[in-house]
Amino acid sequence: MVQNLTMRNQSERYQISEVQQDSRKLVLNWADGHQSRFHYIWLRDNCYCSECGDPRHGEKHFHVINVPEDIKPLSVDWDNDQGLKIIWSPDGHRSVYEPQWLRLHCYSTTERENRLHTPILWDREIATNLPLLAYEEVKSGDIGKLQMLESLRDYGICFLKNVPPRLGELESVAQLLGPIVESNYGRVFDIVITPEESRTSVANSGRRLMPHTDDAYQDAPPGIIFFHCLIASNDGSGQSIFVDGFELLQRLRQEDPEGFKLLSKYELCFRKRYDARIDMQTCEPIIHLDSRGNLKRVRISNLFAAPLDMPEEVIEPFYAAYRKLMRLYADNRYWLQLQLQPGELVVFDNYRILHGRTEIEMTNQCRHLRHCCVDRDYLHSQLRLLTHRLERT
Ligand SMILES: [Fe+2]
Repeated sequence: MVQNLTMRNQSERYQISEVQQDSRKLVLNWADGHQSRFHYIWLRDNCYCSECGDPRHGEKHFHVINVPEDIKPLSVDWDNDQGLKIIWSPDGHRSVYEPQWLRLHCYSTTERENRLHTPILWDREIATNLPLLAYEEVKSGDIGKLQMLESLRDYGICFLKNVPPRLGELESVAQLLGPIVESNYGRVFDIVITPEESRTSVANSGRRLMPHTDDAYQDAPPGIIFFHCLIASNDGSGQSIFVDGFELLQRLRQEDPEGFKLLSKYELCFRKRYDARIDMQTCEPIIHLDSRGNLKRVRISNLFAAPLDMPEEVIEPFYAAYRKLMRLYADNRYWLQLQLQPGELVVFDNYRILHGRTEIEMTNQCRHLRHCCVDRDYLHSQLRLLTHRLERT
């Protein structure tokens, strides 16, 4: 019964019941009561007939500068099976639009809201219900792999168990998502704590690392990060810390909206100088929002923050907001803190999740994590491909 109702709603959603025209737009009323309004310029620009484009590859051959200023239809005709047909003035070009395609691209406020992905925010309580999968499930089929991708999309993080603690396995997991990207630490980076290694990166020292996003000093920091544990400390030191950056920003937004605005408006510079080999710097707001004010990306790194470079009158209010945010990050009520064990792997979105670790005794030489990165584009590409493939089976 419920299924029948859902099917009916789905079909009503894609059934046009009435079409009206005004001087600049086409107004479509749908069988489920929704109304869409499509501007003529938008419709003409998005014609994918074989002359104008190729919807299979999302390619557009028609050029928007060729839409006449006074574009309007000579005729409009529709039928839910054949689609919406428009013959355009003045050149008589003929366009056909599938009702389902139109509904899926409707830019009314409600449909744009529906298409928006809402992340699931979390704090330390996530420890009681970790997004955790067995590696066998992920590598053996589309469903397990999709679960991993959905965890990354929804929680920004996913844990895998049973990834054999040996060299080469990290690369196999990462390549399930996409090609490994070389970072300034190399293609695969061994985080091994020894006195010699501490000279190459702070990650290889025993120092406690406050939660941060990686490589904040790069224009495009690495997107998806993997840590694979080969050997754990045997004294309980070097525990991993993960923090949902979006959860904390949401809190800051509620507690101090003005401070939140400052951190999303003014750029903070991040810089890394190293060994006369690297001198990277970029200036970006800590909080990156989309045009609707939704959180898109966070960039936090106390380690690489450069001196503030902003108008004099902003220095003090900016510091006030920045310190408030940093106090939230330093509050371990928001920390997921755990000891990664050999065979465990964590993958997370570096544009949302902060990571850190507790101090490691330098006398303890056994902790060994391996690290690599994949572009975020592959996460979303794989999500679309797999969702589409599974819906069709
Ligand atoms: Fe890091």
